[in-house]
Amino acid sequence: MKRLLYISTARSILDASELEELLSKSRAANTKADLTGLLVVGGRRFLQVLEGPDEAVIRTYERIKSDPRHFALVKLHDKAVEGRAFGSWSMGYEQGGEAAASASLADQVNAMVASIADPTLRAYFIGFAETHAGT
Ligand SMILES: Cc1cc2nc3c(=O)[nH]c(=O)nc-3n(C[C@H](O)[C@H](O)[C@H](O)COP(=O)(O)O)c2cc1C
Repeated sequence: MKRLLYISTARSILDASELEELLSKSRAANTKADLTGLLVVGGRRFLQVLEGPDEAVIRTYERIKSDPRHFALVKLHDKAVEGRAFGSWSMGYEQGGEAAASASLADQVNAMVASIADPTLRAYFIGFAETHAGT
């Protein structure tokens, strides 16, 4: 099992219905592929973690990488893990900026990642949420 974290930039900001479609398709595909994870959207930036069987993570990441809705993917973390940190989400989701009270993005993300044992991984999410609160 592995866990992969990347950051990327949206070509243009997705509106609520576009995001909802992206999430519902991703959740359905992830459930089938036994993947779990979390997607945080802050302005034009995406931060996403995918975890599950090696093959499924690799295959899904390859597909996500070629998605024209975003570009400049940078892998931040790619590790073999013993268990899941996001086991209850086929794809958890948080958004910064106008759609959420900006001050609460950091709080919400903090709560979502509180149970992650890996401090580096937790720090990526918290740093991202703080940077993008209100963007
Ligand atoms: C930011 C972002 C995150 C995504 N996350 C996932 C995901 O977790 N799982 C997934 O199957 N597809 C995800 N996708 C969608 C894939 O890139 C792709 O559009 C989808 O799997 C359908 O692929 P297909 O059109 O080749 O069938 C994501 C796309 C973007 C832009």
